[in-house]
Amino acid sequence: MFASTLLFALGASASSSIYSGSGFGTYYYDISDVDACGTSFSSQNLGDVECSQVTALSLDTINSNYLVAMNHTQLVDNMETYCGKRVVVTINGVKSDLPLFIGDGCERCAEGSADSDTWNAEGAPGLDFSYTVLNELSGGEACDDGHVSIEWEILDETLYEFDTGASDSSTSQGPVSAAVTASASATASTFTA
Ligand SMILES: *[C@@H]1O[C@H](CO)[C@@H](O)[C@H](O)[C@H]1NC(C)=O
Repeated sequence: MFASTLLFALGASASSSIYSGSGFGTYYYDISDVDACGTSFSSQNLGDVECSQVTALSLDTINSNYLVAMNHTQLVDNMETYCGKRVVVTINGVKSDLPLFIGDGCERCAEGSADSDTWNAEGAPGLDFSYTVLNELSGGEACDDGHVSIEWEILDETLYEFDTGASDSSTSQGPVSAAVTASASATASTFTA
């Protein structure tokens, strides 16, 4: 019993960290809750994500609220490194085990200083989420504040295959695990990949 628990623990933490940071989480789309916080995400949901270079994929087509946008400048220069990789988000000391993955670029997350701890809508470090995920991670604070203090770590673990256009990149795009496209309100315990 102890041995298998230990092996699982080792396996679960085997993915190495590629990048970690702290800043602010915001929301910009939602696949399941299209009208939330007094706004409509219907046009955002039609936007093509940055990680898909060869065949355009819109947020609606990817159909997952677990897709996350990161610093656009950092992403465009390192698409192979970050696209589709798992991101672990910590809010108020609680680490999420949702199958969150990098898929898009965030302009606000690219402006201003990477170590700023002051919220600024024009530029502040952080990540951009679906409304449902940010609301779930923040315990219902997403609409009220619009931005939530977060810490995050990107792991070298692919949850979604993107064709980033690099010669060795995958040509068939899609989720590595079905949990990635399950409803974002499903509990994290269903994710086992
Ligand atoms: C975004 O990424 C670029 C390139 O890595 C970096 O120079 C910049 O400081 C980052 N900005 C923020 C706000 O993290």
